[in-house]
Amino acid sequence: MKRILITGANKGIGLATVEAALNHHHDVAVVLGVRNIERGQAAIDRLCEHHPARASRLELLEIDVADDQSVVQARDTVITRHGADPYPLFGLVNNAGIGLGSNDIDAVVNTNTLGVKRVCDAFIPLVKSAGRVVNISSASGPKFVSLCSEEMRAFFQDASVNWSEIETLLHSVISQPQDARHFQSLGLGAINAYGLSKACVSLYTMVLARENPELCVNACTPGFIETDLTRPQAEASGASPADLGMKSPEYGTVPILFLLFGMPPTSGHYYGSDAKRSPLHFYRAPGDPEYFGP
Ligand SMILES: NC(=O)c1ccc[n+]([C@@H]2O[C@H](COP(=O)([O-])OP(=O)(O)OC[C@H]3O[C@@H](n4cnc5c(N)ncnc54)[C@H](OP(=O)(O)O)[C@@H]3O)[C@@H](O)[C@H]2O)c1
Repeated sequence: MKRILITGANKGIGLATVEAALNHHHDVAVVLGVRNIERGQAAIDRLCEHHPARASRLELLEIDVADDQSVVQARDTVITRHGADPYPLFGLVNNAGIGLGSNDIDAVVNTNTLGVKRVCDAFIPLVKSAGRVVNISSASGPKFVSLCSEEMRAFFQDASVNWSEIETLLHSVISQPQDARHFQSLGLGAINAYGLSKACVSLYTMVLARENPELCVNACTPGFIETDLTRPQAEASGASPADLGMKSPEYGTVPILFLLFGMPPTSGHYYGSDAKRSPLHFYRAPGDPEYFGP
């Protein structure tokens, strides 16, 4: 069995990824990382309602990616359940995320960027050689980068950047008043906590791939998907999710499954919802020519 851990697995794209992995890969077992055990159990109950045999391939793991202690406890739980040798995980999907449209930069960065770092620090040592790490980023990342100064656009694509440089940038953003003047003084074109958090996730993916050459580490956007994260956008506009172009959570699993179980030609890159490579500094729509740049 290939065991994969998916954070934020109780609903939305995370839950759809659990189901798609079970349906398409019979040698896969999934650890559903959830911050609330009741919501997690309800998700497992739904998955098993018409497919009771799935239960043997599913387990719950309490993990709040925004909390250092919770992540460490979750790591210890996996070791207690499955041991550390041989490596208990084939794959890790950093899916938990919040904050589309939020102005709470601290909270959004803590979950979306620092959360990915926390989980990677704790769990990558448990991922077997040639295993997979998939960071769920967003097209909001390249859109955010496209509005930055030339210097910051270069920063967000720089394969030699290290984590402490990303942390320094985030600290500069968070430590000052979060207004347009402050953002502009840092070369960041727009106040957009979510876009910033995801641009940093895609950049961190390059760092991770460089530091873990034995793994296949990539980021992707699932596309524009109707979930609890995006539905308020439709409600605010008065249009239906479909009219706005939102797709089903199942559609969003395509690049994730490709990066988990397919043959991605590269490590350390960002892929679009069509499972083709995309740039970090401007938006490539699904179906547009694949990006082959640095
Ligand atoms: N939907 C889109 O169009 C879209 C586009 C691009 C990228 N994404 C990304 O896709 C990922 C999944 O989003 P979604 O659309 O499926 O949203 P969603 O339906 O709101 O699901 C988010 C999941 O993350 C969990 N979560 C949030 N904070 C957490 C924390 N601190 N610790 C652990 N779990 C946490 C939530 O758990 P609770 O139920 O406990 O809140 C939920 O399971 C996110 O990273 C999002 O940024 C989504």
